[in-house]
Amino acid sequence: MSDTPSDASKRTWLIASGCAGAAGAAFTAVPFISSMQPSERAKAAGAPVEVDISALQPGEKITVEWRGKPVWILKRTPQQIESLKKTETVVADPKSERKPSELTPEYARNQARSIKPEILVAVGICTHLGCSPTAKLEPGAQPSLPEDWQGGFFCPCHGSTFDLAGRVYKNVPAPDNLEIPPHMYLSDSKLLIGEDKKA
Ligand code: FES
Repeated sequence: MSDTPSDASKRTWLIASGCAGAAGAAFTAVPFISSMQPSERAKAAGAPVEVDISALQPGEKITVEWRGKPVWILKRTPQQIESLKKTETVVADPKSERKPSELTPEYARNQARSIKPEILVAVGICTHLGCSPTAKLEPGAQPSLPEDWQGGFFCPCHGSTFDLAGRVYKNVPAPDNLEIPPHMYLSDSKLLIGEDKKA
């Protein structure tokens, strides 16, 4: 897996963020996968991004850029998939019924919000004011998180929490689940982000 460090010039979404400082700090340690990306011009126009996930290990998350946004790809462990049953009752929109055409493609309107239960593909931008949430994948009590935390994502800007399917918790500032971008599998190990039409 490429470990190319984050390139400040690529983190353009931070400029649009409501709290770029906190989000920027959260991003400095995130590996940025840039292999097989189209030209900068095509990317700006929203070209789909092809990602090789063959080296992605269970429990590991990578970030790619699509349309200037960070897109997370998390390979969930069996325990992490199981945790989604426990968070079902504490999240605000467990079945992804809100703004489905904007936030959740039809093939991701399930408990894991994904095509394959183990692979989460989600836009890493908080639905409150656009900060980038931090991965808090380890379960258990931690500062600022619910006592029965099952692992998920925490937005440091105003304290919104999301489970490991990007489903927003009840009673937090963020109104909606994280966006699942259009995507499809070109093969078992290749994902195409930005397009989901069958070839
Ligand atoms: S921007 Fe995420 S909680 Fe406000």
